[in-house]
Amino acid sequence: MRRMAQGTVLCALVAGLSGLGFSNVGVKQSAVLAREGDAVTGREIYVNTCMLCHGIDGTGVRGLQFVPPPADLTSFAVQSRLDGSLFRRIHDGKPNTVMGAWKHALSDEEIWDVLAYVRTLRIESPGQP
Ligand code: HEC
Repeated sequence: MRRMAQGTVLCALVAGLSGLGFSNVGVKQSAVLAREGDAVTGREIYVNTCMLCHGIDGTGVRGLQFVPPPADLTSFAVQSRLDGSLFRRIHDGKPNTVMGAWKHALSDEEIWDVLAYVRTLRIESPGQP
């Protein structure tokens, strides 16, 4: 009976250790694959470069004469899009609008950061994923 209990403890220990090993691998992989931007750095970039048009809360500065006016970054239309699609849009700009190609001013990493901040502007509303 005692032997069995020891065996159980040993098994649990081994399982725990290998679990730890696997989770380490997971962390390493996700650091490489998912380019998680840093929303705190992104906020600084946003305030300096995007806020002029998109406003402090992302809904867009009213009264600008741009056609079309700056997109509402809190909207479902923007927030429902995949990271890659928004990254490309910020990187390359939007043709025939004043939304410029920020690749000239920002590094890829900075674009991921500002995108991470843009994600924080999302308004949670019922019925929207
Ligand atoms: C000079 C004004 C201006 C600045 C500065 C600006 N934008 Fe925009 N942005 C726009 C306009 C105009 C649109 C297009 C709206 C539309 O198509 O309806 C837009 C669209 C977008 C969209 C939606 C793109 C799409 O495909 O509909 C995102 C996301 C965005 N901007 C992010 C940013 C970020 C991040 C920055 C700062 C790095 C930034 N913008 C700076 C004017 C600006």
